[in-house]
Amino acid sequence: MLVKLAAVFWTVGLTCGSPSHGENEQSFGYDSGELDPLHWATEYKTCSGKYQSPIDIEENLVTKVNLPLLRFHNIDTLPTSTIITNNGHTVVLQLNYTAPVMISGGPLTPAYKFNQLHFHWGVNDSLGSEDLINNHSYPMELHMVFSNTDYDDDKIALTKNDGLVVLAMFFEITKEDNLVYSEIVDSLAQINMPDQSTHLPVGFTIRSMLPVSTEHYFTYKGSLTTPPCLEVVQWIDFKHPIKLSHNQVQAFRMLRSKHGQLTHNSRPVQELSGRPVWYNVGGFASLNTPIIERSCASPFGLVMSDIILLLGCKLVALMLF
Ligand SMILES: *[C@@H]1O[C@H](CO)[C@@H](O)[C@H](O)[C@H]1NC(C)=O
Ligand SMILES: *[C@@H]1O[C@H](CO)[C@@H](O)[C@H](O)[C@H]1NC(C)=O
Ligand SMILES: *[C@@H]1O[C@H](CO)[C@@H](O)[C@H](O)[C@H]1NC(C)=O
Ligand SMILES: [Zn+2]
Repeated sequence: MLVKLAAVFWTVGLTCGSPSHGENEQSFGYDSGELDPLHWATEYKTCSGKYQSPIDIEENLVTKVNLPLLRFHNIDTLPTSTIITNNGHTVVLQLNYTAPVMISGGPLTPAYKFNQLHFHWGVNDSLGSEDLINNHSYPMELHMVFSNTDYDDDKIALTKNDGLVVLAMFFEITKEDNLVYSEIVDSLAQINMPDQSTHLPVGFTIRSMLPVSTEHYFTYKGSLTTPPCLEVVQWIDFKHPIKLSHNQVQAFRMLRSKHGQLTHNSRPVQELSGRPVWYNVGGFASLNTPIIERSCASPFGLVMSDIILLLGCKLVALMLF
């Protein structure tokens, strides 16, 4: 049992970006064959769970809500150091800051601390994102992973169903290069092979990576999209995509995995299994006072603005729990 758990954390370390050199690294992939997503559950039983990610989000089936403002903390400072790694499955960036980058508010009760960010992409510009919107796939998706500050460390967070939050951002193709991504894209040539890492001399602020509006997002409970697929993630998918040029996305497809070229790394969509998906319509700040906002900040204190205004937060919270 201990060995099994160790294996689980080992692999999570990999998918969460710790550069590593173990044999386990080879134990999942995306190309058809015995390591492909359809076979992940053979080695990782938890990948056959009921509430897995990614999913297809159908806009006409989501529940519209008006959540407290999603708050970002310390996202305007440059990191003191940034390491970019090709871990054989994705490109992962780890950043050190003088003060921790955190998010709170929105659907979140405690604050969550930034951990790492990484990307998913497809073989061409017509697909590549993991979550789909109305069955539409974007060419690339960014995942910023945050861990619950109520738990002592990230390994404990991985055992709790409110352990992680992932902010997901979609990309769409535009003619112009996105200069925020220049340093990342330029560094990819230095991490062509799996397990290669390099420092980014400048780095970037987290704010510069966010879409123009963070008010409009889909949110649902799901899993890590790589083995062991633990169902510990509150997903927050921003509606507004970020622009990137074809050449910038193409640079990611040139990287190597352990098995060949890392042309794509998206898990296919999983069954919704009756889960609710919420869509935040925004505008909370203009409708509510800060005091109400605080008492509303509970997980799935997800209520329509009208209901909040009519009943008040406490009552709604009682109804929900
Ligand atoms: C962050 O700082 C720690 C301690 O100095 C160091 O070991 C680690 O490599 C740094 N990480 C990054 C991403 O620079
Ligand atoms: C993109 O790749 C997918 C998957 O291989 C393929 O089905 C599709 O036809 C390709 N689209 C274009 C425009 O090449
Ligand atoms: C989404 O696409 C899949 C595969 O093309 C199809 O089977 C499914 O019915 C579509 N879902 C919706 C809601 O259109
Ligand atoms: Zn991811």
